[in-house]
Amino acid sequence: MHDSTWTQKLESAINARQTLLESPHTDCYRIYHGYDEGFPGVVIEAFNGVFVIDYKKDIEPDLSTISHYIDERFNPRIIISKGHQTLGKKLKDRFQVHKGSLEESPGYCHEEGVKFDIRVETPHNLGLYLDTRDARRWLRNHSKNRRILNLFAFTGSLGVSAALGGAKDVIHLDRSAELLPRLQKNYALNSLTWDQRSFLRGDIYKHLPRAIQSGQRFDGIILDPPPKVYGSPYAKERPRGQDFSQLVQLCSQLLSPDAWLMCFFHRFDKSWSESEEEVNVASGIDLHVEERLTSGIDFPESNPERKLRVSILRKPS
Ligand SMILES: C[S@@+](CC[C@H](N)C(=O)[O-])C[C@H]1O[C@@H](n2cnc3c(N)ncnc32)[C@H](O)[C@@H]1O
Repeated sequence: MHDSTWTQKLESAINARQTLLESPHTDCYRIYHGYDEGFPGVVIEAFNGVFVIDYKKDIEPDLSTISHYIDERFNPRIIISKGHQTLGKKLKDRFQVHKGSLEESPGYCHEEGVKFDIRVETPHNLGLYLDTRDARRWLRNHSKNRRILNLFAFTGSLGVSAALGGAKDVIHLDRSAELLPRLQKNYALNSLTWDQRSFLRGDIYKHLPRAIQSGQRFDGIILDPPPKVYGSPYAKERPRGQDFSQLVQLCSQLLSPDAWLMCFFHRFDKSWSESEEEVNVASGIDLHVEERLTSGIDFPESNPERKLRVSILRKPS
């Protein structure tokens, strides 16, 4: 692509995000979303002065133009680029540092005043999914005195938001043990007290039936399965897609009266309403949709059904 074309595209993307870029307590956002802004497969995100260019199409000849533009416009500490594994190159050939060095990373970013751990050296997400900002805000406002279960926790940003909102207990569940220090750091960064029982490491299909058997109840469950849930020896049936049918069937048995269930829909093979209907049917109880959330202005999509969709469903009291 011509250098001037990149400059124009980036300029108009940044202008469209001006309110977000000016918000005083947030320094992490997607500054370019190529899917709707002219170059599918390329996204650029900023985390407290660390700029990350992610690309699924080979734009190596354009990387110096893009990083030069970012440098002129923002003068950040670090600019890196990461090519996707489908480009067929080794990680060391896909990961480039265009400015600064990884050691200069601040180690965390701020979102609406909340601090989150970031690891610049990780080949995938730095530690915070930026499209779920509104869900984190909702959790800060609707978790007071509630017992919360955060499923598919990753670095725990959603559960940390519930804890900051005054949840009386938050349990994070994820199968990856490597996440524990990152979760603990997110607690420490926000002066939250860490309890060893806050993290359950293991397979969700193993832990949920156990929790049901031991009579556990939660006042809020965060259910954010990846777009493709992998098979598990503990699942009754082979998971399909995000597997809401099996997962919600289990979760609904753990909900207290008046509890909410927050579901994240990442797939586009069903409409938003169809996804909610799938959840409702799987729950076997009459959950009503209380609120819908989506991603922010930094994830523009001309078709709203192509955006992240989050539904909060409530169990009757
Ligand atoms: C996309 S991330 C979830 C993002 C997270 N909710 C957040 O907001 O940061 C998916 C997570 O699910 C976990 N995971 C995938 N399959 C799992 C399973 N069967 N049991 C438990 N955790 C699982 C992965 O380890 C990964 O951390």
